[in-house]
Amino acid sequence: MEECRLQKYMALCGVASRRRSEEMIVAGKVKINGQTVTELGTKVTSKDVVTVDGKRISPEEKKYYIMLNKPKYVICSVKDEKDRKCAVDLIEGIDARLYPVGRLDYDTSGLLLLTNDGEFMQKMTHPSFEVWKTYEALVKGVPDKVAEERFRTGMLMEGDPRQTAPALLTVLEKRDNDRSLVEVMLREGRTRQVRRMLETVGHPVIELKRVRIGSLELGNLKTGRWRQLREDEVEKLLGRGSEETETVWEEEF
Ligand code: URA
Repeated sequence: MEECRLQKYMALCGVASRRRSEEMIVAGKVKINGQTVTELGTKVTSKDVVTVDGKRISPEEKKYYIMLNKPKYVICSVKDEKDRKCAVDLIEGIDARLYPVGRLDYDTSGLLLLTNDGEFMQKMTHPSFEVWKTYEALVKGVPDKVAEERFRTGMLMEGDPRQTAPALLTVLEKRDNDRSLVEVMLREGRTRQVRRMLETVGHPVIELKRVRIGSLELGNLKTGRWRQLREDEVEKLLGRGSEETETVWEEEF
Protein backbone atom coordinates (compact mmCIF):
# COMPACT_ATOMS: atom_id res chain seq x y z
CA MET A 1 0.00 0.00 0.00
CA GLU A 2 1.23 3.47 -0.87
CA GLU A 3 1.70 6.18 1.74
CA CYS A 4 -1.53 7.75 2.84
CA ARG A 5 -2.75 10.28 5.38
CA LEU A 6 -3.52 8.84 8.78
CA GLN A 7 -7.17 9.89 8.78
CA LYS A 8 -7.71 8.33 5.35
CA TYR A 9 -6.00 5.14 6.50
CA MET A 10 -8.28 5.01 9.56
CA ALA A 11 -11.32 5.41 7.33
CA LEU A 12 -10.02 2.65 5.02
CA CYS A 13 -9.71 0.41 8.05
CA GLY A 14 -13.35 1.07 8.84
CA VAL A 15 -12.58 2.85 12.13
CA ALA A 16 -14.69 5.95 11.41
CA SER A 17 -15.28 8.64 8.78
CA ARG A 18 -12.28 10.84 7.93
CA ARG A 19 -13.73 13.75 9.88
CA ARG A 20 -14.34 11.62 12.99
CA SER A 21 -10.89 10.05 12.59
CA GLU A 22 -9.33 13.52 12.62
CA GLU A 23 -11.05 14.21 15.92
CA MET A 24 -9.71 10.96 17.34
CA ILE A 25 -6.18 11.82 16.21
CA VAL A 26 -6.33 15.27 17.80
CA ALA A 27 -7.72 13.70 20.98
CA GLY A 28 -4.54 11.59 21.22
CA LYS A 29 -6.25 8.23 20.74
CA VAL A 30 -4.03 7.14 17.86
CA LYS A 31 -0.50 5.73 17.93
CA ILE A 32 1.85 4.93 15.06
CA ASN A 33 4.52 2.39 15.93
CA GLY A 34 3.92 3.02 19.60
CA GLN A 35 4.10 6.83 19.40
CA THR A 36 1.01 8.97 19.98
CA VAL A 37 0.37 11.17 16.95
CA THR A 38 -1.79 14.28 17.04
CA GLU A 39 -0.56 15.77 13.76
CA LEU A 40 -3.27 15.47 11.08
CA GLY A 41 -0.96 15.36 8.06
CA THR A 42 0.99 12.31 9.25
CA LYS A 43 1.49 9.69 6.56
CA VAL A 44 1.39 5.91 7.06
CA THR A 45 1.87 2.77 4.98
CA SER A 46 0.61 -0.76 5.65
CA LYS A 47 4.02 -1.50 7.22
CA ASP A 48 3.24 0.86 10.13
CA VAL A 49 1.56 -0.49 13.23
CA VAL A 50 -1.38 1.80 13.89
CA THR A 51 -3.46 1.51 17.05
CA VAL A 52 -6.62 3.32 18.05
CA ASP A 53 -7.41 3.23 21.76
CA GLY A 54 -4.73 0.54 22.03
CA LYS A 55 -6.27 -1.73 19.36
CA ARG A 56 -4.38 -2.47 16.16
CA ILE A 57 -6.16 -1.56 12.93
CA SER A 58 -5.47 -2.75 9.36
CA PRO A 59 -7.18 -2.18 6.05
CA GLU A 60 -9.51 -4.90 4.81
CA GLU A 61 -7.80 -6.49 1.85
CA LYS A 62 -10.19 -7.16 -0.98
CA LYS A 63 -10.54 -10.90 -1.46
CA TYR A 64 -10.28 -12.36 -4.93
CA TYR A 65 -11.53 -15.76 -6.08
CA ILE A 66 -10.56 -16.56 -9.62
CA MET A 67 -11.04 -19.51 -11.93
CA LEU A 68 -8.50 -20.02 -14.67
CA ASN A 69 -8.58 -22.46 -17.54
CA LYS A 70 -4.95 -23.41 -17.17
CA PRO A 71 -3.24 -24.31 -20.41
CA LYS A 72 -0.82 -27.23 -20.55
CA TYR A 73 2.82 -26.37 -19.89
CA VAL A 74 2.10 -23.76 -17.25
CA ILE A 75 3.17 -24.44 -13.68
CA CYS A 76 1.13 -23.85 -10.55
CA SER A 77 4.00 -22.55 -8.37
CA VAL A 78 4.16 -18.80 -7.89
CA LYS A 79 7.73 -18.71 -9.17
CA ASP A 80 9.77 -21.19 -11.17
CA GLU A 81 13.53 -21.49 -11.09
CA LYS A 82 13.50 -22.81 -14.66
CA ASP A 83 11.60 -19.69 -15.78
CA ARG A 84 8.59 -21.59 -17.03
CA LYS A 85 5.30 -19.75 -17.27
CA CYS A 86 3.37 -19.64 -13.97
CA ALA A 87 -0.41 -19.71 -13.65
CA VAL A 88 -0.44 -16.44 -11.66
CA ASP A 89 1.26 -14.68 -14.60
CA LEU A 90 -1.86 -15.28 -16.67
CA ILE A 91 -3.99 -13.17 -14.30
CA GLU A 92 -3.49 -9.56 -15.25
CA GLY A 93 -5.10 -6.46 -13.77
CA ILE A 94 -5.70 -7.83 -10.27
CA ASP A 95 -3.89 -5.86 -7.61
CA ALA A 96 -3.30 -8.69 -5.13
CA ARG A 97 -0.86 -11.47 -4.43
CA LEU A 98 -2.65 -14.54 -5.71
CA TYR A 99 -1.90 -18.18 -4.97
CA PRO A 100 -3.17 -21.29 -6.74
CA VAL A 101 -5.56 -23.40 -4.66
CA GLY A 102 -4.05 -26.87 -4.96
CA ARG A 103 -2.20 -27.97 -8.06
CA LEU A 104 -2.55 -29.25 -11.55
CA ASP A 105 0.38 -30.98 -13.21
CA TYR A 106 2.50 -29.05 -15.70
CA ASP A 107 0.94 -31.12 -18.48
CA THR A 108 -2.65 -31.02 -17.17
CA SER A 109 -5.04 -28.31 -18.34
CA GLY A 110 -8.33 -27.03 -16.98
CA LEU A 111 -9.97 -25.60 -13.92
CA LEU A 112 -7.58 -24.00 -11.45
CA LEU A 113 -8.67 -21.71 -8.63
CA LEU A 114 -6.54 -18.82 -7.44
CA THR A 115 -7.10 -16.60 -4.43
CA ASN A 116 -5.54 -14.20 -1.96
CA ASP A 117 -7.83 -15.48 0.81
CA GLY A 118 -5.71 -17.66 3.07
CA GLU A 119 -8.70 -19.04 4.94
CA PHE A 120 -10.43 -20.13 1.74
CA MET A 121 -7.19 -21.72 0.57
CA GLN A 122 -6.76 -23.65 3.81
CA LYS A 123 -10.33 -24.95 3.77
CA MET A 124 -10.21 -26.00 0.15
CA THR A 125 -6.89 -27.80 0.43
CA HIS A 126 -7.31 -29.45 3.83
CA PRO A 127 -7.46 -33.26 3.49
CA SER A 128 -10.73 -33.33 5.44
CA PHE A 129 -12.37 -31.11 2.83
CA GLU A 130 -13.30 -33.81 0.37
CA VAL A 131 -14.81 -31.89 -2.48
CA TRP A 132 -15.32 -33.91 -5.66
CA LYS A 133 -13.02 -33.06 -8.54
CA THR A 134 -13.93 -34.14 -12.04
CA TYR A 135 -11.47 -34.76 -14.84
CA GLU A 136 -11.75 -35.67 -18.48
CA ALA A 137 -8.97 -37.83 -19.81
CA LEU A 138 -8.10 -39.11 -23.22
CA VAL A 139 -6.65 -42.56 -22.57
CA LYS A 140 -5.18 -45.49 -24.41
CA GLY A 141 -7.70 -48.27 -24.92
CA VAL A 142 -11.24 -48.48 -23.60
CA PRO A 143 -11.66 -49.20 -19.87
CA ASP A 144 -14.05 -52.06 -19.10
CA LYS A 145 -16.36 -52.78 -16.17
CA VAL A 146 -13.49 -54.34 -14.20
CA ALA A 147 -11.51 -51.09 -14.42
CA GLU A 148 -14.57 -49.10 -13.36
CA GLU A 149 -15.05 -51.42 -10.40
CA ARG A 150 -11.43 -50.96 -9.33
CA PHE A 151 -11.99 -47.20 -9.23
CA ARG A 152 -15.12 -47.76 -7.14
CA THR A 153 -13.59 -50.10 -4.61
CA GLY A 154 -10.16 -48.45 -4.43
CA MET A 155 -6.79 -49.69 -5.65
CA LEU A 156 -3.12 -49.78 -4.77
CA MET A 157 -0.96 -47.60 -7.00
CA GLU A 158 2.73 -48.26 -7.54
CA GLY A 159 4.93 -46.80 -4.82
CA ASP A 160 1.99 -45.89 -2.59
CA PRO A 161 1.06 -48.20 0.32
CA ARG A 162 -2.37 -46.64 0.82
CA GLN A 163 -5.46 -47.86 -0.98
CA THR A 164 -7.21 -45.11 -2.95
CA ALA A 165 -10.58 -43.88 -1.72
CA PRO A 166 -13.65 -44.80 -3.79
CA ALA A 167 -13.72 -42.92 -7.08
CA LEU A 168 -15.69 -43.04 -10.31
CA LEU A 169 -14.57 -43.92 -13.81
CA THR A 170 -16.99 -43.55 -16.72
CA VAL A 171 -16.29 -44.06 -20.42
CA LEU A 172 -17.72 -41.05 -22.26
CA GLU A 173 -16.73 -41.81 -25.83
CA LYS A 174 -14.77 -44.31 -27.85
CA ARG A 175 -12.28 -42.70 -30.23
CA ASP A 176 -10.33 -43.94 -33.24
CA ASN A 177 -7.00 -45.74 -32.89
CA ASP A 178 -7.98 -47.57 -29.72
CA ARG A 179 -8.38 -44.52 -27.52
CA SER A 180 -11.27 -43.28 -25.42
CA LEU A 181 -12.46 -40.23 -23.56
CA VAL A 182 -13.24 -40.98 -19.92
CA GLU A 183 -14.50 -39.07 -16.92
CA VAL A 184 -12.85 -39.54 -13.55
CA MET A 185 -14.29 -38.22 -10.31
CA LEU A 186 -12.35 -38.32 -7.08
CA ARG A 187 -12.19 -36.67 -3.71
CA GLU A 188 -8.52 -37.17 -2.96
CA GLY A 189 -5.62 -35.20 -4.36
CA ARG A 190 -2.53 -37.37 -4.29
CA THR A 191 0.32 -36.56 -6.66
CA ARG A 192 -0.61 -37.33 -10.28
CA GLN A 193 -3.41 -39.48 -8.92
CA VAL A 194 -5.65 -39.61 -11.98
CA ARG A 195 -2.73 -40.52 -14.22
CA ARG A 196 -1.49 -43.15 -11.77
CA MET A 197 -4.91 -44.73 -11.27
CA LEU A 198 -5.54 -44.94 -14.99
CA GLU A 199 -2.05 -46.35 -15.54
CA THR A 200 -2.75 -48.95 -12.84
CA VAL A 201 -5.83 -50.21 -14.66
CA GLY A 202 -3.90 -50.34 -17.96
CA HIS A 203 -5.12 -47.14 -19.63
CA PRO A 204 -2.33 -44.55 -19.65
CA VAL A 205 -3.36 -40.93 -20.02
CA ILE A 206 -2.70 -39.09 -23.26
CA GLU A 207 -4.40 -35.81 -22.28
CA LEU A 208 -5.84 -34.68 -18.94
CA LYS A 209 -8.12 -31.80 -18.12
CA ARG A 210 -9.94 -30.84 -14.91
CA VAL A 211 -13.47 -29.76 -15.71
CA ARG A 212 -15.18 -29.36 -12.33
CA ILE A 213 -14.49 -28.75 -8.65
CA GLY A 214 -17.55 -29.48 -6.53
CA SER A 215 -20.37 -27.65 -8.26
CA LEU A 216 -18.08 -25.26 -10.08
CA GLU A 217 -17.77 -26.03 -13.79
CA LEU A 218 -15.13 -24.79 -16.18
CA GLY A 219 -17.94 -24.37 -18.72
CA ASN A 220 -16.93 -22.63 -21.92
CA LEU A 221 -14.10 -20.58 -20.43
CA LYS A 222 -11.41 -20.66 -23.09
CA THR A 223 -7.92 -22.04 -22.46
CA GLY A 224 -5.73 -19.38 -20.85
CA ARG A 225 -8.72 -17.20 -19.89
CA TRP A 226 -9.94 -16.44 -16.37
CA ARG A 227 -12.85 -14.89 -14.55
CA GLN A 228 -13.72 -13.93 -11.00
CA LEU A 229 -16.14 -16.21 -9.18
CA ARG A 230 -19.49 -14.86 -8.12
CA GLU A 231 -20.21 -14.69 -4.42
CA ASP A 232 -22.72 -17.54 -4.65
CA GLU A 233 -20.12 -19.72 -6.39
CA VAL A 234 -17.65 -19.15 -3.55
CA GLU A 235 -20.35 -19.88 -0.98
CA LYS A 236 -21.33 -23.07 -2.74
CA LEU A 237 -17.72 -24.25 -2.88
CA LEU A 238 -17.36 -23.70 0.83
CA GLY A 239 -20.65 -25.50 1.39
CA ARG A 240 -18.82 -28.80 0.91
CA GLY A 241 -19.27 -29.31 -2.81
CA SER A 242 -22.39 -29.94 -4.77
CA GLU A 243 -25.45 -31.86 -3.72
CA GLU A 244 -25.83 -32.84 -7.33
CA THR A 245 -22.48 -34.64 -7.24
CA GLU A 246 -23.41 -36.38 -4.01
CA THR A 247 -26.53 -37.64 -5.75
CA VAL A 248 -24.52 -39.02 -8.65
CA TRP A 249 -22.41 -40.89 -6.15
CA GLU A 250 -25.37 -42.26 -4.21
CA GLU A 251 -27.02 -43.46 -7.41
CA GLU A 252 -23.84 -45.25 -8.44
CA PHE A 253 -23.58 -47.28 -5.24
N1 URA B 1 -4.41 -35.97 -11.23
C1 URA B 1 -3.36 -35.97 -12.05
O1 URA B 1 -2.86 -37.04 -12.40
N2 URA B 1 -2.89 -34.80 -12.49
C2 URA B 1 -3.42 -33.61 -12.16
O2 URA B 1 -2.94 -32.58 -12.61
C3 URA B 1 -4.51 -33.61 -11.30
C4 URA B 1 -4.99 -34.81 -10.83
